[in-house]
Amino acid sequence: MTFRMYQLTTLSLFFISSCASQKVVSFQHDIDPILNEKCLHCHKSPDGVGYVQTGLEMVSYDSLMKGTIFGTVIVPGDSKRSVINKVIEGRAGEMMRMPHGDAKKLTTEEIELLKIWVDQGAMNN
Ligand code: HEC
Repeated sequence: MTFRMYQLTTLSLFFISSCASQKVVSFQHDIDPILNEKCLHCHKSPDGVGYVQTGLEMVSYDSLMKGTIFGTVIVPGDSKRSVINKVIEGRAGEMMRMPHGDAKKLTTEEIELLKIWVDQGAMNN
């Protein structure tokens, strides 16, 4: 049962990535709306909790690319090394999975879009 579900998940992920990778992901149309809906309320100055703790603001492309007080969260072209992809995919552990708390979760498609967008160079397109 568990194995079957794993196979199905792998299959659908493969399906999603092979469809989505045929088009260029747009920051304006695809990524920004996701961040606005699911991340911005915590990653906004002056009192968003994620902003207060890390300095990471998501009000614009530039603020996102600036990253946290510790450094950038996006390595253009490399989602494997990008902190933003690590924390939404759960690769940094459950405690660090974003979005935190009761915030609306990201869908598998949204996680995949963020990955493709970073791998395509994290463009301001
Ligand atoms: C409910 C509040 C909340 C929401 C919603 C939220 N975050 Fe965060 N975020 C935080 C807090 C708090 C931190 C500081 C680190 C910690 O406590 O885990 C943080 C830190 C981060 C970091 C920095 C991690 C590091 O190690 O430097 C990234 C990247 C991040 N968030 C991305 C996101 C993304 C992408 C979303 C939307 C999908 C999101 N966050 C939604 C609260 C939130």
